[in-house]
Amino acid sequence: MRLLVTGGAGFIGANFVHRTVAERPDVQVTVLDALTYAGNRASLAAALDRIRFVHGNITDPDLVDGLVRDTDAVVHFAAESHNDNSLDDPWPFVHTNVVGTYTLLDAVRRHDVRYHHISTDEVYGDLELDDPARFTEDTAYNPSSPYSSTKASSDLLVRAWVRSFGVRATISNCSNNYGPYQHVEKFIPRQITNLLDGGRPKLYGEGRNVRDWIHVDDHNRAVWDVLERGRIGQTYLIGADGEQDNRSVIAALLDIFGRAPDEFDHVPDRPGHDLRYAIDSTLLRTELGWQPRYRDFRAGLEATVEWYRANEAWWRPRKAATEAAYARTEQSG
Ligand code: NAD
Ligand code: DAU
Repeated sequence: MRLLVTGGAGFIGANFVHRTVAERPDVQVTVLDALTYAGNRASLAAALDRIRFVHGNITDPDLVDGLVRDTDAVVHFAAESHNDNSLDDPWPFVHTNVVGTYTLLDAVRRHDVRYHHISTDEVYGDLELDDPARFTEDTAYNPSSPYSSTKASSDLLVRAWVRSFGVRATISNCSNNYGPYQHVEKFIPRQITNLLDGGRPKLYGEGRNVRDWIHVDDHNRAVWDVLERGRIGQTYLIGADGEQDNRSVIAALLDIFGRAPDEFDHVPDRPGHDLRYAIDSTLLRTELGWQPRYRDFRAGLEATVEWYRANEAWWRPRKAATEAAYARTEQSG
C-alpha cells in the first residue's frame, strides 16, 4: 500500500509515521510537509531512511496532484493547529486548513483515491462544566476560534465532496493529544519544559477549563482502524475518557517534579477560551473495536516528562522564541 501522509513532520503526524513504519512494513509512506514553524524534520529522523519526504505545501495544486496520483490513500494531518496563533493571525489557518483541504479533495476526487481527514473535537464548540453531555457524531457544529472554525470548514468540505462527488472519505474528530514530539507552544510541553528549566507553569485564567486528554498513540491506532475498516462518509469521534481541568494537570506536573503545589503563575486568559471538551467515542469502540491502551493519565504524563527530559536537543531550539512570543501576548493582553 502507498500512503501519502500530510503534516508528517508535526506532532501527531510524526508519531503516526513512526508507528506505521514500525508495525506495517508493507506500507510505503510518503510525507508531504511544508516544515512551517511547527514542522520539524528531526521528528522523523529515525524513519527518514524508510520513507520518502517531500518538502512542499498542501495548497500547491500541481505538487499535490502528482503525489495523489501515485498513492493508494491519503491521511491528512497537515494544519495550522494552535488556537493562540489563530487569534493573532487567522489567515494562515484559512489558507492551510480550508484551501489546503480543498486542494487535496480536488486531487483525490480526480484520481479516485481513498482519503482520511484528521479533525478535532473543537468543531463542536464547548460544554458547560456541569453538563453531563459529551460530544457525539450527531452534535451540531459550533466552533469558537479562527482555528476551530477553519477545521469545521474543512470537515464540511469533506462531507460535501463525499455526497456530491462520491469521494471515498472518512473523518475523525479527536480530543487533546499528548505525548512525544509535541511543540513547546502547547499546554503540556510548555509546562514540562518550563519546569525542566527550573521555571514555573503558566495557567490561563483560573484554569477550570477541561480538556479530554488522549495519548497520541491511542489516537493514531484509531486512525488506522478508521482508514482500514471505517464506513465511507462516516465521522468517528476519538476520545479516551480523559477529562482533566488545566489546574489539575499543572498540579500533577508540579508533583512529578517535586515542586510545591502553588509554584505556578496565573497569566491572562485566552480570549473566547472554550470551557470544556468531552468525547463520547461509543461508535468507534462498538463498530471498530477500538479501545485506549493509555488509561492512566498520570503514568502517561510521567512518560512524557521523561521523553522531554531525554530529548532536550529536540525542543531546546524552539523554546526561547516560543516563550518570547507568549511574553509579547501577555504584555499586550
Ligand atoms: P502540528 O502543528 O504539530 O503539525 C502540523 C504539521 O503540518 C507541521 O509539520 C507543519 O509543518 C505542517 N503544515 C502546516 N501547514 C502546512 C501546509 N500548508 N502544507 C504542508 N504542511 C503543512 O499539529 P498536530 O498537533 O500534529 O495536529 C495534526 C492534525 O491533528 C491537525 O489537523 C489538527 O487539527 C488535528 N488535531 C490535533 C489535536 C491535538 O491535540 N494536537 C487534536 C485533534 C486533532
Ligand atoms: O481539542 C483538540 C485540540 O487540542 C486540537 O484541535 C488543537 O490542535 C490542539 O492545539 C488542542 O487545542 P487546545 O487549545 O485545547 O490546546 P492547548 O495546548 O493550546 O491548551 C490546552 C488548555 O491549556 C487550554 O484550555 C488552554 C490552556 N493553556 C494553554 C497554554 C499554552 C494554559 O492554561 N496555559 C498555557 O500556557
